[in-house]
Amino acid sequence: MGTVDAYLRQPWSTVHDIPMVSAFAQNWERVDNFQSRLDDIVVATFPKSGGNSTSQTLVPSIPGTTWISEIVDMILQGGDPKKCKRDAIVNRVPMLEFAAPGHMPAGTEQLENMPSPRIIKTHIPADILPKSFWDKNCKVIYVGRNAKDVAVSYYHFDLMNKLHPHPGTWDQYLEAFMAGKVAYGSWFDHVQGYWKRRQEHPILYLFYEDMKEDLRREIAKVAQFLGQELTEVALDAIAHHTSFEAMRDNPSTNYSVVPSQLMDHGVSPFMRKGITGDWKNHFTVAQSAHFDQYYAQKMAGTDLRFRTHI
Ligand code: A3P
Repeated sequence: MGTVDAYLRQPWSTVHDIPMVSAFAQNWERVDNFQSRLDDIVVATFPKSGGNSTSQTLVPSIPGTTWISEIVDMILQGGDPKKCKRDAIVNRVPMLEFAAPGHMPAGTEQLENMPSPRIIKTHIPADILPKSFWDKNCKVIYVGRNAKDVAVSYYHFDLMNKLHPHPGTWDQYLEAFMAGKVAYGSWFDHVQGYWKRRQEHPILYLFYEDMKEDLRREIAKVAQFLGQELTEVALDAIAHHTSFEAMRDNPSTNYSVVPSQLMDHGVSPFMRKGITGDWKNHFTVAQSAHFDQYYAQKMAGTDLRFRTHI
C-alpha cells in the first residue's frame, strides 16, 4: 500500500478523449470490458448533480454517500434505514470507474464479487459507458441538474477535494467547465447523451430540481421504474432519510470523516448547500450572459430543458 500523496492534485488524464481523474484512467480496459448482468441498476450522473462523487473511496472506511444511490438502495430494502446501514454506501453502491492502484480494489473488481441485484454508480458519459450495459438493456437512472448550479458545486468540490487538480479562480474554472476541460468532460454532451439514449433504452431521466421540489414524488417514480411496491410509510421513511438536512447531519453521509489531507471541509463542506439557484450568488451578470449565449448554442438541437430556479 503506497500513500495517497501520489494522487493529490494530479492533472486530469484522458480516456477516449474525455478528461478523467488520473488514478481512474489507468488500465481503462477493465471498464471498457466490464460485464454487466441483466438485473444491474446503473445510477449515472454528471458530477455534482446529486448522484455521487468522484474519488471518495480512497479511504476504505469512508461511508461516502450519494443522494440517488441512497434512494435506490433504500427502495430495494423496502425503506428500512437499518438495512441501509448494513455497510458503507461505497460498498453497497460501488463506483464503476473508481481505481486507486496499489491502494484499494478497483470498482470493477468490487462489483465482480457482488451478489445481484447490483446498484452501480458512475459518471461515465453514455458514449463510453461499457457496451455490455447497452447490450443487456440494463436499467439506468440518470440525474441531471442545471449547468450553472453544477458548475458552482463542482468548483467548490475541486477546491476542497485534493484528489482533483486545483480549479484556479472561479472565472478560469467557468471557462474550463464550458469547454469540457473538467473530469468527465462536457456537461452539455453528458446530459444530452443519456437524454438521446432513453429513446431506445430503459433510462429513467430525473432532475435534481424536481427532487428538490418534491422528493417523495420522485422517489415514487424510481420505485415504479424498478417495479418495487412501496407502502406510504416506506415512502415517507425514504424521503425523510434522504433529505438534505438528514444527510448533512449524518456523519456517515456528510464526508466529515474524510481526512483533511484529502478533503478540506474548512474550504467548503461536501454537503455544501443542497439548493437550486445558488449560481446567482456566484455568476456575475457578464458571466451569466456569456454562459447563456454558449448554452443556447450547445443545446440548440435538443428538447431537453433544465430549470435554473424552482
Ligand atoms: P451543492 O454543492 O450545490 O450543495 P454529488 O453527490 O454528485 O457529488 O453532488 C453533490 C451535490 O449534491 C452538492 O450540491 C450536495 O449538497 C448535493 N446533495 C447531496 N445530497 C443531497 C440531498 N439529500 N438533497 C439535496 N442536495 C444534495
